[in-house]
Amino acid sequence: MTDRFYVTTPIYYVNAEPHIGHAYTTIVADVLNRYYGLSGMDTFFLTGTDEHGDKIVAAAEMAGETPKEYVDRISQLFRDLWPRLNISNNYFVRTTDPRHQLVVQFILNKVRDNGDIYFSEYEGLYCFGCERFYTERELMEGKCPDHLMEPTVIKEANYFFRMSRYQDWLIDHIEQNRDFIRPERYRNEALSFLKEPLEDLCISRPKSRLTWGIPLPFDDSYVTYVWFDALINYISAPGYPEGDLFNRFWPVAEHMIAKDILKPHGIYWPCMLKSAGIEPYQHLNVHGYWNINEGKMSKSLGNVVRPLELVDVYGLDAFRYFLLRDMVFGLDSEFSEEALVNRINADLANDLGNLVSRSATMALKYFKGVLPEPDLSHESDDHLKAKALGALDKYQAAMKGLGFHKALMAVWEVVGELNKYIDTMAPWVLAKSDVGRLGTVMDHIFKTLHIISVLIWPFMPESAEKIQEQIGLERKGRALNFTDLHSWKNLKPDKTIRMAPALFPRIEVAGQNKRTKGVEKMDGKGEIERQPELIDFEAFQKLDLRVGTITEAESIPKSKKLVKLTVDIGEERTVVAGIAKHYAVEDLKGKQVIIVANLKPAKLMGIESCGMVLAAEDETGVHLLTPWATTLPGSKVK
Ligand code: MSP
Repeated sequence: MTDRFYVTTPIYYVNAEPHIGHAYTTIVADVLNRYYGLSGMDTFFLTGTDEHGDKIVAAAEMAGETPKEYVDRISQLFRDLWPRLNISNNYFVRTTDPRHQLVVQFILNKVRDNGDIYFSEYEGLYCFGCERFYTERELMEGKCPDHLMEPTVIKEANYFFRMSRYQDWLIDHIEQNRDFIRPERYRNEALSFLKEPLEDLCISRPKSRLTWGIPLPFDDSYVTYVWFDALINYISAPGYPEGDLFNRFWPVAEHMIAKDILKPHGIYWPCMLKSAGIEPYQHLNVHGYWNINEGKMSKSLGNVVRPLELVDVYGLDAFRYFLLRDMVFGLDSEFSEEALVNRINADLANDLGNLVSRSATMALKYFKGVLPEPDLSHESDDHLKAKALGALDKYQAAMKGLGFHKALMAVWEVVGELNKYIDTMAPWVLAKSDVGRLGTVMDHIFKTLHIISVLIWPFMPESAEKIQEQIGLERKGRALNFTDLHSWKNLKPDKTIRMAPALFPRIEVAGQNKRTKGVEKMDGKGEIERQPELIDFEAFQKLDLRVGTITEAESIPKSKKLVKLTVDIGEERTVVAGIAKHYAVEDLKGKQVIIVANLKPAKLMGIESCGMVLAAEDETGVHLLTPWATTLPGSKVK
C-alpha cells in the first residue's frame, strides 16, 4: 500500500449554479480525503471549475457580462460553497488559470510531436449543447440523447487527435487492470464502447466560431476543444511536468465522476495521456445519478435541489450523512426530503444523538465527568469491545471498496450494540449496587464512543469533533487516527466529560404531506425554521405570466419608489412598479418585461395597477426580468 492518496472531482461547468449532484461528488471526494488522512497518508484533493467553450459564452451573454467577468463570478460561487459544505480541498483549479493554459499548450505540442494531431476537413453532426460532434449511431431518433435536439450539420476544417491509434492499447489496459474503471458496470460500458472502431477526436474549434478557449500553440486561428482542455486540469494543477506534487501524487490518482462523463474520462483521457507519454491515472470511480421523481434534475424542469437550502434547514452533517448513506456508489438514487428526514430522525437524532447525550449525562451524574480506572472486564464488556474493534475492520474494507453506505452501516451496528449494552448493564442500577462495576461499564461505553467518533469524522467532521469535545478528548478530528483505535486500552478521556446541546434535533414533520405543507425543524432553542413551501405544477399554472413592452413610463409625484408604466401585453395595461430608485423613467420606454397579468388590481398612490412586473433583487440592486430575444407582446411565459 502506498502512503499517498490523490483524489479529484470533475471540474464543474460555470454555466449553472451548484446543485446536489455537484455536492455529492465533492463530498464523496472529501470523505475519502479525510479518511485517507486519518489512515496516516499524505493526501491531495483537487476540485475546480471548467470555464471555456460555447456554453459558457452563451451563459455570459445571457447574464450581460463578458465571459471573463462571468466566469470569475460563477467560479467564485463554487469556491465559496465548498467551505460551507466543509470540503477540505487542497487546491482549486480554473481552466482560465495561466499555468493551466500553458500546460494544455505543452501537451498539445507533445501529442503533435508524437504524430497524433492532423488537420482535416470534416462534415459532421454537431450538438451545441454538448459541444461535440455526434455520429449517426449515437443519436436517438436523430436527436442528441442529452439535449433531445437535432444536431446541426457543420462543415469545417479542424485539428484531430489520432485516438484510434490507442484503441487496442486501451482495451488491453482496461482488461489487465480490473479496477481501472470501477464499479464493474462502468468498466463493461467502456469496454463495450471500445468494441466499435474508435474514431479520432476533433480537438479544435475555429476562432471564427468560438474565441473563448485556449489557442492552439501551432495555429492561432483555432482554440482547443473544451474537453481536451478540461481533462488536463488533473495534471496541470499538481504542477505537471516537473512539479513535486505531480510526481508525488499522479501515480495514485483517483478520479471521482458520475456516469454522464464516463466517455471523456474512460476513453479520451487515457488515450491523451498515453500519447503525451504520461502514465494513466490509477482509478476512475464512477457513481450514479441523483434523480428527483424518477427523472433527471434539470434547471428547465425546475427541480434542481440546492445544497445550501437543505443545509440551512437540516444542518450540514445531516445532509452529508444522508447523501453518503442513501446512495450505493455506482447506482442511481432517488432524492426525497422525506427519506432525508427519516434518516435524520432515526439514525442521527434517535440512535447516535441520544447515545451520546445519555452517556454524558451518566458520566456527569455518577462520576462528575471524570471516570475511575476500570476493574476486570466481564464477558458482556468483551463482547462490546470485540464488536467495536470488528467494526473498524469492516469499515476500512468498505471504504477501500467505495462502499460508503456499508461503512456507515458498520458504525451504526456498533451504535446499536452500545445502546443495547447500556440498556442491559443498566448503569442506573449499578450506581446503587456496585460502583466498581459501574466504572468498568462506563469505561467501555466511552471507549466505544471514542471509536465511533473517529469513524464518523470523515463523514460528519463537525459533529464528530463536537462529540470528541464532549467526551473529553484532547485531540480532535484529523489529530486522531485509526492505529490508535486498535489499542483499545489507551482509549480514555483526557479531560472532563461534559454535557452539550443535542447534536441532531429531531425534525417534526408538519402534516401528512411534507413536500406540499412544508417541513419544520425544532432547533436546540425550540425555534421553528420553516422551509419554503413547494407547490405543484397546477398551482404554478394559475399564474398568467406575459411578455410586455413598456410603451410609457412616468414618475409618480410624491412617490420616491413608484413608477407608472403603460405596458403592451397584447392589450394595454397600467402597472405601478416599485423601481424608481433603480431605473430612470426615460430608460424604460421600449424595454420588454415580464408581467403577472392575472393579479387582482390594486390602487397604489391613487392609480389602479393591473398587474405586476417581475424583477430580481440582490445586493447590487433590483433587476427587471426581460426575455432573451425580443418577443411578441402578450406571449405567455411558461
Ligand atoms: N465540466 C465537465 C467536467 C470536466 S472534468 C475534466 C462537467 N461539468 S458538470 O458541471 O456538468 O459536472 C458533471 C458532474 O457533476 C457529474 O459527473 C457529477 O460529478 C456531478 N453531477 C451532476 N449532476 C448529477 C446528479 N444528478 N447526480 C450525481 N452527480 C451529478 O461535466
